[in-house]
Amino acid sequence: MLREYLLLPLLASFTAAYTISVAKSGGNVTTSTQYGVMEEEINHGGEGGLYAELIRNRAFQGSSLYPSNLDAWSTVGESTMALQNLSKPLSSALPTSVKVSGKGTIGLKNEGWWGIDVRPQKYSGSFYVKGSYKGSFKASLESNITGKTLASVEVTSKSVANEWVQHEFTLTPKSKAANVNNTFSLTFDASKATGGSLDFNLISLFPPTWNNRPNGLRTDLMQAMSDMGPTFLRFPGGNNLEGETIDTRWKWNETLGPLKDRPGRPTTWGYEETGGMGLIEYMQWCDDLGMEPILAVWSGLALNEDIVSEEDIGIYVEDALNEIEFLTGSVDTEYGALRAKYGYPDPWTINFVEVGNEDNLNNGLDSYIAYRFAAFYDAITEKYPSIQVLASTIDMTLPGSAGGDFHLYDVPDNFVAAFNQFDQYTDAHRILLGEIAATEYNNGVGIDWSDYHFSLYPWWIGSVAEAVFFLGAERNADKIIGTTYAPYFMNINSYEWSPTMYSFDADPDDTARSTSWHVYSLFNHNHITNTLPTTSADAYGPLYWVAGLNNKTNSHIWKGAVYNSTETVPVSLTFEGVAKGTKADLTILTAPDAFSMNGVGEANLVNSKTTTIKAGKSGVFSFSLPNLSVAVLTTN
Ligand SMILES: *[C@@H]1O[C@H](CO)[C@@H](O)[C@H](O)[C@H]1NC(C)=O
Ligand SMILES: *[C@@H]1O[C@H](CO)[C@@H](O)[C@H](O)[C@H]1NC(C)=O
Ligand SMILES: *[C@@H]1O[C@H](CO)[C@@H](O)[C@H](O)[C@H]1NC(C)=O
Ligand SMILES: *[C@@H]1O[C@H](CO)[C@@H](O)[C@H](O)[C@H]1NC(C)=O
Ligand SMILES: *[C@@H]1O[C@H](CO)[C@@H](O)[C@H](O)[C@H]1NC(C)=O
Ligand SMILES: *[C@@H]1O[C@H](CO)[C@@H](O)[C@H](O)[C@H]1NC(C)=O
Ligand SMILES: *[C@@H]1O[C@H](CO)[C@@H](O)[C@H](O)[C@H]1NC(C)=O
Ligand SMILES: *[C@@H]1O[C@H](CO)[C@@H](O)[C@H](O)[C@H]1NC(C)=O
Repeated sequence: MLREYLLLPLLASFTAAYTISVAKSGGNVTTSTQYGVMEEEINHGGEGGLYAELIRNRAFQGSSLYPSNLDAWSTVGESTMALQNLSKPLSSALPTSVKVSGKGTIGLKNEGWWGIDVRPQKYSGSFYVKGSYKGSFKASLESNITGKTLASVEVTSKSVANEWVQHEFTLTPKSKAANVNNTFSLTFDASKATGGSLDFNLISLFPPTWNNRPNGLRTDLMQAMSDMGPTFLRFPGGNNLEGETIDTRWKWNETLGPLKDRPGRPTTWGYEETGGMGLIEYMQWCDDLGMEPILAVWSGLALNEDIVSEEDIGIYVEDALNEIEFLTGSVDTEYGALRAKYGYPDPWTINFVEVGNEDNLNNGLDSYIAYRFAAFYDAITEKYPSIQVLASTIDMTLPGSAGGDFHLYDVPDNFVAAFNQFDQYTDAHRILLGEIAATEYNNGVGIDWSDYHFSLYPWWIGSVAEAVFFLGAERNADKIIGTTYAPYFMNINSYEWSPTMYSFDADPDDTARSTSWHVYSLFNHNHITNTLPTTSADAYGPLYWVAGLNNKTNSHIWKGAVYNSTETVPVSLTFEGVAKGTKADLTILTAPDAFSMNGVGEANLVNSKTTTIKAGKSGVFSFSLPNLSVAVLTTN
């Protein structure tokens, strides 16, 4: 990405107060400069993360990239387990199953996504088994350290020869386990099974999920998002949408229906995914958090730089139109009927479709400009005029009603230097800030792309720098569709990219809301619907700000951030028409130092302090902001 910044003065010291006055009218209407979520299957953010499935490698899915294997499984008792592709598989989507054979009480054990959280709540499980068996199964949760059984249930066998039969069960532990070092076991009496063996597949266990949805999402992570008040979800990626190869791209039609019909696919981030968190689950995620879906469709570019030719692009355009029809069409349409068949007769509304991801990279830009973007833009706009189609880059001339997507990963200083970037953006086409994150420490240079392991977690000076950048974006809110951090999630036990908005392990009590989460949350909960012009004799830096109005609450709002000041910054703020004695809430975020970060299982270090202050003589709000702080003042 080529970016040019106007360098801002490096203001080092400050003694006099910043005097800022906010006009009554004349600003820009905010379309939706709010803060959303960007998801893709990375760092076990979906599987082993937000997707609440507790069993890892539940259906032995594999691909040429990641062949099926027995990861996370071990045997119980005197037994062996072996993967097989039976002539009668569970389904064509799930061809590989495990055969467990031996003597006495035998079975298999799963260690979950680096542990299993066991607490007094209802767990819903199921498994498929093939083979004649007259006994019963035992499903249990056990401590991996003491061997103690934490919950167990007998499941009467319905199993018969030559058929795959599903069994369901629930487990309700009586108390919370000491830690997440627990396993799930499924055992049977080999003497009552013909030939002393049985075949198993699709072994699943879910804790309670957000809104109690079957096949649903992890409650602690949903709560953390809900508390931030996100307004949109960009899905299903990212690099993961693109795929390593054309054939391994994300295929919407293979993420639908019963779990046994979902083949899964190799992610672009080092592992196979099950397809359990599919298109419908993404839409339910939007529904559950009141987020606007920004649906990304595959644009004909894979990460290995294979590009679909102009002659063939029509197939993929058609596929995207089918996907949109699947989501939005009435039950009288072909794909709307398919949606209804899966149990969702009511159509969803899609207002934004993004074509691809970062098509300016991987040698994609020439073909994107030459024919790929136009093919999608023309077809979608013609059939669905109410949908705004977004290009995945702004390194091109955007046609008609198209918007663009701008991503920025950088060092904190460069975010601050980019404060006025959108003042310079004169294009009429709106942009999504679809992936924004300070990733690497200030080094006087910029980001080093040879290493994805930047800071492990967002850290305070990075979050303040992001805040400064957002203030610049909010000032130009009419040009910005929305802003989101990326990537969103990281399972600390297995990740390829840091930092992320949230990080976690198997224990929901360990989930960390990052320092950046606190900035997003503060800004999101103080939404400016209409910006207002501000005047000040003082230049931006070390204090940066935006002001405006929320026309629903009738509050005046001022947002500010202090970056790189040697002293506390005094502020004298007036809003035209706001009289002496008016009360306002002033919230100031600070952290112990520039490198404070919120880690998995650690305490939150961001201090949020809200005080009520009163406008003094001539309606002046007087307050001071310390170095590296983010603040919002909202009149009551
Ligand atoms: C099952 O079939 C897949 C796809 O053909 C193959 O890659 C895999 O090795 C087979 N597994 C076994 C255990 O035979
Ligand atoms: C569980 O304990 C074992 C043995 O001490 C250890 O190897 C493993 O990493 C622990 N797993 C978790 C999830 O804590
Ligand atoms: C259980 O302990 C073994 C070592 O004793 C370890 O290999 C395995 O990862 C542990 N399982 C979990 C869930 O931590
Ligand atoms: C999904 O759609 C693709 C075309 O994009 C097609 O190649 C594939 O066979 C379809 N998958 C299923 C399971 O129908
Ligand atoms: C912040 O201060 C440091 C040290 O004085 C300086 O190197 C850096 O350029 C400053 N950054 C900005 C954005 O002003
Ligand atoms: C509030 O502002 C929004 C734009 O941000 C506008 O769409 C809406 O009509 C306004 N409502 C009122 C009551 O002024
Ligand atoms: C409104 O937008 C213009 C450019 O579109 C920008 O120059 C100006 O600063 C914005 N005004 C406010 C009050 O944010
Ligand atoms: C303010 O923060 C910057 C960046 O971390 C640092 O260089 C500077 O020393 C800080 N100033 C004070 C007074 O702490």
